Amino acid sequence: IGLLMKEMKNIAPEERAAYGKGVNELKEWALEFLGSLDEKMKAKELQDRYEAEKIDISLPAETVAEGNLHPITLVKNQIIDIFAGMGFEIFEGTEIETDYYNFTALNTPDYHPARDMQDTFFLENGNVLRTQTSAIQIRTMEKTGAPVKMFGIGATYRKEMDATHAPMFGQIEGLYVNKNITMSDLIGDIRAFLKRFFEMDDVELRIRPSYFPFTDPSIEVDLKWKNGRWLEIMGAGMVHPNVLRNCGINPDEYQGFAFGFGWDRL
Ligand code: PHE
Repeated sequence: IGLLMKEMKNIAPEERAAYGKGVNELKEWALEFLGSLDEKMKAKELQDRYEAEKIDISLPAETVAEGNLHPITLVKNQIIDIFAGMGFEIFEGTEIETDYYNFTALNTPDYHPARDMQDTFFLENGNVLRTQTSAIQIRTMEKTGAPVKMFGIGATYRKEMDATHAPMFGQIEGLYVNKNITMSDLIGDIRAFLKRFFEMDDVELRIRPSYFPFTDPSIEVDLKWKNGRWLEIMGAGMVHPNVLRNCGINPDEYQGFAFGFGWDRL
């Protein structure tokens, strides 16, 4: 267009006006055309940048490996969920217990041979590392009286160590005291719990007579598992009248059941 302008001097004077107008129009057209190309290019550059910097917010975040809960902890939490869902209230008690809560109040006085069932760690001051979460049911009943529906959970200790016993293990204790509580309520709740825990339509149980000083009658519950074998999973029974009496509950008015098991085994 610059060269065309310079040509002006060689154009005949009478045609110059038309020539100049033509070149000017050409110049305007060219400016507009190139300007629009420029705009398109800028728009494309912007678009390319958007594409390149796009963040897909639907992508899952990168996982950070923080470690996982131990299987035993998962099982413990699952058990807590199930019992809470069945209306049992949770209590933890204390791991160092007095002899009274761990034994005497549980109908196991000093001279009682049943004390030998549990190899106890005694502290120098006469206290014990609790051998059973049954101590928690005493502490709870003393406070709440009847009716009460609770479970105790926590670490328990016994002086034993072999392939199936550890000196520190976890126990769960269930207790339900109310009017007209029977053995079938006990077995029904145990079955309901196990069905939920193992996510099965039904579980096969074997109920064996047993002995615990704090329940009468006492039973042990076996669960049918791998290859038709039975696995002993818990002790249970109807709360002994002496235990209710020790907690200020009238056994002629109230009955209760209790059960206890280790969650490590489950
Ligand atoms: N405390 C008993 C044990 O540790 C288990 C148990 C609890 C039995 C409640 C009966 C009722 O062996």
